Amino acid sequence: MHVAVFSTKQFDRDHLGPLAADAGHRLRFLDAGLTTETAGIVDGEPAACLFVNDQANAETLEILADRGVRFLALRSAGFNHVDLVAADRLGLTVARVPAYSPNAVAEHAMGLVLALNRKLHKAYLRTREGNFSIDGLMGFDLAGKVVGVVGTGKIGACFARIAAGFGCEVLGTDPEPSDEARRAGVRYVDRHELLGRSDVVSLHCPLTPETHHMIDADAIARMKQGVMLINTSRGALIDTGAVIGGLKSDRIGALGIDVYEEEGDVFFRDLSGKILHDDVLARLLTFPNVLLTSHQAFFTVEAVDAIARTTIENISAFGHAGPAGVPPENLVSLASHYRH
Ligand code: NAI
Repeated sequence: MHVAVFSTKQFDRDHLGPLAADAGHRLRFLDAGLTTETAGIVDGEPAACLFVNDQANAETLEILADRGVRFLALRSAGFNHVDLVAADRLGLTVARVPAYSPNAVAEHAMGLVLALNRKLHKAYLRTREGNFSIDGLMGFDLAGKVVGVVGTGKIGACFARIAAGFGCEVLGTDPEPSDEARRAGVRYVDRHELLGRSDVVSLHCPLTPETHHMIDADAIARMKQGVMLINTSRGALIDTGAVIGGLKSDRIGALGIDVYEEEGDVFFRDLSGKILHDDVLARLLTFPNVLLTSHQAFFTVEAVDAIARTTIENISAFGHAGPAGVPPENLVSLASHYRH
């Protein structure tokens, strides 16, 4: 199949390119992200391949469909950036990579916890400046602390297992509790108890209309004084303004985020030397107890390789047999959206 690949980085070329060639597909790698302005770049390709910050809204999808696209191959697990109602109306089939390496994201989330707790981000800078003072770097033992996992699916369960390994008590909340998460050490409680008892709260649920801004001023008011909040899922799970309020009042003792509500204009780009126009992001970056990474939790060799393999398998499956050929667990439908 001919495929227009949006938001391409070198690692995409390196991983997707050889697999696509072996499978007989012709990929056109585009640096541009997908927007209503760039959708017209598609030139007769029946498939478009998208990443997390590509904007597959109704208007964009109409342009893609007009230009012959019938299949969207997402290089991600999350699909909140695709208007599934419009895709359904336009007859576009959407496939994703439902699981590639839950370890990659869970390990990054724990990396944020450890770095923030022991202030490794500050220690790194200090020692390089010849400052060997440890004043202000005191952390706490993770062993014995309560870790709350919001969303105990593949990544949440993996994170729970890691936290349990540190000797933490692990609480979980999920509308669909799982035995696997229980085996990983999760004890299910309701959301209010989780927020009220946890020393660390880590978000691992998808972004849906129900979970949008689930961490708002009310949720923050229910949290323990000095709580550490970690978000490696999707930025809009958090009301960033409310979280900044929580940081200013010391209710939130540390914030580790790999995702940000308005990341689409900033993440994955080198903007050093440029003026940052997002005042909310600029404010977040002033807090010494905020550690922000730019959507890199997925970024391990194993995960990128698995994403490329499943993406090419999805493209091959659609090319051979249309929607019916794509493994059902990889298809994203309106029904799967509302189930989440
Ligand atoms: P999953 O589908 O295995 O698990 C998600 C869990 O969240 C499910 O058990 C679901 O029942 C639960 N859930 C849904 N609504 C909830 C609610 N209101 N409260 C609590 N739990 C709720 O998904 P997986 O693979 O664990 O991924 C989780 C999320 O991680 C993805 O949706 C994606 O947004 C994010 N992600 C981030 C990456 C990164 O690089 N930062 C990479 C991959 C995924």
